[in-house]
Amino acid sequence: MSTRPPGALRRIERDLRLLARNLKADYFAHGAWQARSRRQKRDWEAAGKVDPPPHMIKEEVVRAAAQTNGIRTLVETGTLHGDMIAAVAGDFDRVYSIELSRELYWLARLRFLARRRVRLVRGDSSEKIQTLLDRIDEPCVFWLDGHYGGGIMAKGKTVSPILEELSAIMAHRVRTHVVLIDDAGMFERGTGDPPSLAALAELVKTSRPASSFVVQDNIIRVTLS
Ligand SMILES: C[S@@+](CC[C@H](N)C(=O)[O-])C[C@H]1O[C@@H](n2cnc3c(N)ncnc32)[C@H](O)[C@@H]1O
Repeated sequence: MSTRPPGALRRIERDLRLLARNLKADYFAHGAWQARSRRQKRDWEAAGKVDPPPHMIKEEVVRAAAQTNGIRTLVETGTLHGDMIAAVAGDFDRVYSIELSRELYWLARLRFLARRRVRLVRGDSSEKIQTLLDRIDEPCVFWLDGHYGGGIMAKGKTVSPILEELSAIMAHRVRTHVVLIDDAGMFERGTGDPPSLAALAELVKTSRPASSFVVQDNIIRVTLS
């Protein structure tokens, strides 16, 4: 006899598993979680930093961008489980994150119930980024990571809303934002959706020519000026 729960219960079971994973990472096995992250980092470095970096490297890049530039606000697109928020929220006064998937948004709401500095937004970041920018008056670090990648991830009108996101940020009244775009490799392979890395570099060069555009460790780093 099958022990698989029926459709609706399967979704609830999956969501509870995800919630348990997040609570475990934050409260019950934080030390083990940290140790695993450090091990992944060491393995990646020992292997010559060839593959996309582990999450801990991304967290360090986000933190360093904030510290170097004296920035206290983080805007993320693509919340997923909220792992970036959980890792760096303590380094910022305010953290905004936009997620398209209804389930992932609500799971993150539960995860960060007690974190007042974390503000979650549900919707397509190609549109919601503008709503957020309308309320922002200070330089931000942007962690642009909202794209479709299979599995439980949501898909909007496009695989990657990066062109709309980047255009909105570059047109904003604050001129000194720092933009970090994850998954440079995806754009290196891109031909339209997602757009190519060359198309992103060209967009920055045309809109904000004095800005720097550097790719390192699979992360595109744009310092607007
Ligand atoms: C690679 S994951 C994000 C990982 C997360 N930023 C981290 O560092 O842990 C991509 C997420 O973007 C979401 N997503 C996909 N398209 C989106 C869109 N147009 N707007 C907002 N979120 C989107 C997916 O549902 C998925 O949760």
